[in-house]
Amino acid sequence: MIVVFGSLNVDLVTPVERLPGAGETVIGPGYALHPGGKGANQALAACRAGAEVALVGAVGRDGFAEIALSLLAADGVDLACVAHVDAPTGAAFIAVDAAGSNQIVVAAGANAFARSAVLDSMPLGERDVLLLQREVPESECIAAARSMKRAGGRVILNLAPAGAPAAALLDCLDVLIVNEHEALVLAQSLGWPDGEPEEVARRIDAERGLACVVTLGAAGVVGWQGGVRRRLAAPRVDVVDTVAAGDSFTGAFAAALAAGCGFSGALQRGLAAGSLACTVAGAQPSVPRREAIEALVG
Ligand code: ADP
Ligand code: NA
Repeated sequence: MIVVFGSLNVDLVTPVERLPGAGETVIGPGYALHPGGKGANQALAACRAGAEVALVGAVGRDGFAEIALSLLAADGVDLACVAHVDAPTGAAFIAVDAAGSNQIVVAAGANAFARSAVLDSMPLGERDVLLLQREVPESECIAAARSMKRAGGRVILNLAPAGAPAAALLDCLDVLIVNEHEALVLAQSLGWPDGEPEEVARRIDAERGLACVVTLGAAGVVGWQGGVRRRLAAPRVDVVDTVAAGDSFTGAFAAALAAGCGFSGALQRGLAAGSLACTVAGAQPSVPRREAIEALVG
């Protein structure tokens, strides 16, 4: 089983001619409302990649909760441990300009009240994987990671959105997944002047004994584990938008590890999933399924 402890949001996406400056109002023609949040997206990605997935998190008691849960429920993610709390469902306010650049404000809302204590009453074991991101309180992520380690399972952190992870969290991890920007922020937080992605991954593995994966967008992925480097090029695809690429990578990578694949096999499946997500518009609707992932892996 994969347990995802993380965020659920609704995304309110407004097209604008140009992004507003400070103090400025820009009028867009309308907005679309989609389910999102890194926890939810990655739970869906792991589920569609073939894993049995339980999501632990929190939504509000408002109309947005149902939207946030809609595709997860349809695909069979276990939502029994998503709490309904007295705070608004988390929301991301996203403006996208004519060139495709965006500006995003995330209101944590109910995600600030996500609690991990329920992991202690789950039947966790050494085959299980905990998947974390950075959109719920870090102290709770640390507690969740410790629960999974006590059960003998593995812990994966996707360091998104970018930020410096607490040492206590790093100490619990089996795999760290970052994109190039997150690798740079991580390197700075560790006092490493060279933020070159490859070097960050090598040092995390060598000095922390922690497998590290850096996704490289269209260039693919590089991973270091146990002193061994693996670099894979992304499959050639027709890119529509890169929304949910990182979440699809991470969910499929975790699903492959939970299914018993080695590090290389998990990298291959993550890469295929990330690239497939780029061929379909939007976030959750673009998250690929196992058959498509395996077909691309070949
Ligand atoms: P994030 O979405 O977190 O910024 P990346 O941009 O590194 O992460 O993308 C994650 C994965 O998605 C990549 O490893 C790759 O598999 C796939 N991907 C992203 N952009 C492209 C692209 N332009 N062409 C093909 N695959 C892509
Ligand atoms: Na997409």
